[in-house]
Amino acid sequence: SPSKTAAGPLTGRTVVVTAGGTREALDPVRYLGNRSSGKMGVALAEAALAAGASVRFIGAAMDVPAPSGAEVTRVESTGELREAVFAHCAGADGLIMAAAVADFRPAEYTDAKIKKTEDGASPVITLERTPDILAETVCRRTEGADVPPVIVGFAAETGDDSGSVLEYGAAKLQRKGCEALVVNQVGRDQVFGQDTTEVTVLFADGREPVQAAGSKAEAASVVVEQLAGLMGREVQ
Ligand code: CTP
Ligand code: CA
Repeated sequence: SPSKTAAGPLTGRTVVVTAGGTREALDPVRYLGNRSSGKMGVALAEAALAAGASVRFIGAAMDVPAPSGAEVTRVESTGELREAVFAHCAGADGLIMAAAVADFRPAEYTDAKIKKTEDGASPVITLERTPDILAETVCRRTEGADVPPVIVGFAAETGDDSGSVLEYGAAKLQRKGCEALVVNQVGRDQVFGQDTTEVTVLFADGREPVQAAGSKAEAASVVVEQLAGLMGREVQ
């Protein structure tokens, strides 16, 4: 579908936004998933559209509809998301990785439904690591692939005895190699599925962190404003 033509700091720019939670199939009827609602990713896509961008939206499992006005691709697994990100990054100016990507997936997929057995034994499910799409995308750019110059990651952190939410965020930003990382605090009832959020945007170039709180739409417009700033398009 054609993109909206709002005039703004991202007019003429193309932004890829990923959203929702990936699902990793165990058998034809079961999967491992996560609590991502997709709301933040949709809010980011809408904020980018409102700023004048063409948006390529890649949605994994979500509780909300995909944004209208964006070019929408739906995916299920981390493997599918990875392929969609690589394909849609070509020619784009920015990438926002708001999707909650599974860290582990079943090491084996069973073609037939796993059945209970007579002996009452429970199956043991072996997991393997998934590819890190964000880190891999940054790496591909280093190797000369057609990847956006501005990549923004998201970090869901809880903080614990060995580090605060922001300390973990700063370490993650370095590890991923992207231009900015949007850090938020998560818990069972915090952020996931909620309509409000509190985020801190950390920058790789050393500029001061930027905070945003309020509705996901308000936080998303702050993130998009920072994205425009990183593209050299300061908001008037
Ligand atoms: N991400 C990704 N591929 C993965 C895991 C995460 O692209 N396999 C991306 C997410 O979309 C997000 C960023 O990396 O933009 C950070 O995700 P997060 O889950 O906070 O970080 P992890 O590196 O998975 O570390 P951990 O969950 O162990 O804290
Ligand atoms: Ca993770």
